[in-house]
Amino acid sequence: MTKISPSILAADFWRLGDEIRKVEAAGADMLHIDVMDGLFVPNLSFGMPVVSSVRPNTRLPLDVHLMLANPVKYIEAFAKAGADSITVHVEADSDPAQAIEQIHRLGKRAGLSLKPGTPAQAVCPYLKDLDMVLVMTVEPGFGGQKFMGETMEKLSGLSRRCQELGYAVDFEVDGGIDPSTAPIAVQNGANILVAGSAVFEQPDYAVAIARLRG
Ligand code: DX5
Ligand code: ZN
Repeated sequence: MTKISPSILAADFWRLGDEIRKVEAAGADMLHIDVMDGLFVPNLSFGMPVVSSVRPNTRLPLDVHLMLANPVKYIEAFAKAGADSITVHVEADSDPAQAIEQIHRLGKRAGLSLKPGTPAQAVCPYLKDLDMVLVMTVEPGFGGQKFMGETMEKLSGLSRRCQELGYAVDFEVDGGIDPSTAPIAVQNGANILVAGSAVFEQPDYAVAIARLRG
């Protein structure tokens, strides 16, 4: 079953509580929380206070995507704020093995993400220790960009490899996911779809989520 993780980056922050209640009622499986530091990506978003304010007010698991140059420095703070899964980038300055180990020590699910230009081999050494691989389908930093189909070969290669090796790894895609690109990602092995504009910029969130599920 394909899971949908709406990205609150596209939500109306004035009404964030309402927005989250609405996607929860509309059938979202988790909430995607994009944390950006203005260094790893050319944009800033929000940090721990948003996670800790949201945590007691929703039953949805919090899927935290750290677009940070030095994620290891902040993993503990996000775990304490209430993240359920924490994803770091393989291109960041931190050692991915150390980040994964720290996330697991804090009792959270560990994800590793790759940008569109990063080869699959970059995450291969870590697959056996991961709960999730996040394949970026746009350059990280901004919502509302166009899906990059050339990332699909990497997704299908990695998901096939995990299947062959018997690793139970989730495959999440993020960026430009809408009702036309969602089935392409699912065919190539994705089982969690992040969607910002394809949920929060639609008039009816339940219809939008159902369309993504296909
Ligand atoms: C981009 C973020 C995405 C973004 C997706 O760096 O990681 O999660 O919010 O937005 P859409 O779905 O609008 O492409
Ligand atoms: Zn994201």
